[in-house]
Amino acid sequence: MTDLRKDFPLVDDIVYFDNAATSLIPEPVINAMNEFERRYRANVGRGVHRLTSIASQRYFNSHQKVARFIGADAGTTVLTKNTTEAINMVACGLKWNKGDSVVTTALEHHSNLLPWLRLRERGVGVKVLMPHPDGTLDLSAFELAVNDNTRLVAISHASNVLGTILPVKEIAAICNEHGTRLLVDGAQSAPHLPVNVKDIGCDYFCFSGHKMLGPTGTGILWMKDSDISPLLVGGGMIESVSTEDYTLAGGYQRYEAGTPHIAGMIGLGRAVEYLEKAGMDSVREHERRLTRKLLGGLASMENIRIYGPAENMERIGVISFNIEGMHPHEVSHILDEAAAIMTRSGEHCCQPLMRHMGLPGGTVRVSLYLYNTEEEIGLLLETLEEITRRL
Ligand SMILES: Cc1ncc(COP(=O)(O)O)c(C=O)c1O
Repeated sequence: MTDLRKDFPLVDDIVYFDNAATSLIPEPVINAMNEFERRYRANVGRGVHRLTSIASQRYFNSHQKVARFIGADAGTTVLTKNTTEAINMVACGLKWNKGDSVVTTALEHHSNLLPWLRLRERGVGVKVLMPHPDGTLDLSAFELAVNDNTRLVAISHASNVLGTILPVKEIAAICNEHGTRLLVDGAQSAPHLPVNVKDIGCDYFCFSGHKMLGPTGTGILWMKDSDISPLLVGGGMIESVSTEDYTLAGGYQRYEAGTPHIAGMIGLGRAVEYLEKAGMDSVREHERRLTRKLLGGLASMENIRIYGPAENMERIGVISFNIEGMHPHEVSHILDEAAAIMTRSGEHCCQPLMRHMGLPGGTVRVSLYLYNTEEEIGLLLETLEEITRRL
């Protein structure tokens, strides 16, 4: 993976360990976006001139590349702004009935909790399952909570705070028994593990392009069936319109009203190609090796408390910890000042989880990606040793 680093100019100056928030972006992705802006900028799906034809084709290709990336040879792949928009599209687009219920967990990012909590205004019940301290949840909790009134289960594939990977396939099987739809928030899984939506057996899979080497303002909603109504209506998503009525287009067009983020989505397609070339199995293995080294190093230090599953459990390279007696923001600030190491500190958009774990200030979070190195982990551990020595 080290030869990839030349594509990420920022890694020469800093250590970037905030990949769960947003990843860095490689030069080929920037070039793909620039090429659109410089050489064939035009709107998509409108008109017939040569520029719009090229732009439309490349924009269409991005849908196909993203679909292939998650093993979606069927269903509909919609390009969105981010994971948050994708989840809200499902929450707002399903036809809810009074008495329906949604099952979710306290592990969720606010983006996979608030859209469901808001449904309470419409008479929908929301059950929130509580995880164990390492972020795991018993399947029996889902078996108990899901019944024939459960319209939807909404869960993360991997936690953005603890790194825990949830048994989504087994949860899909429970949903199946009750005719319940399953939405998987893949914001932290798709960038880091091979994902196959067919294999998972979910109905909706949501993730963010900007967390997987793509530009900001890019996300994805994959749906097994196009069974939601669109969030927005307007140009670019209709079959026909009269002054009285309109007929919606089919496919992804139905859900993409207005001019999309064309350069960004073309960049997203290039980002997917980049990851495929690196190989998602290799990305996973590389991050596993770094996670092992980091967890081992942290465990050997006094005054450090690690949260989340052990290294030998199913987990991603998202590691949360605290130094006793120090606020996470203070630690993160010193890491930046002392060694140009970028980490995330605070509640990670997971206030219910932080409250459940008794961590009002949150944690320091290190999140890894393919361009990170063992040397960078070494530097982090040395700097943390130095900080704890001064306590
Ligand atoms: C698990 C999870 N879900 C949802 C989101 C929201 O992603 P976005 O800000 O791209 O909408 C994040 C972002 O960190 C996340 O980690």
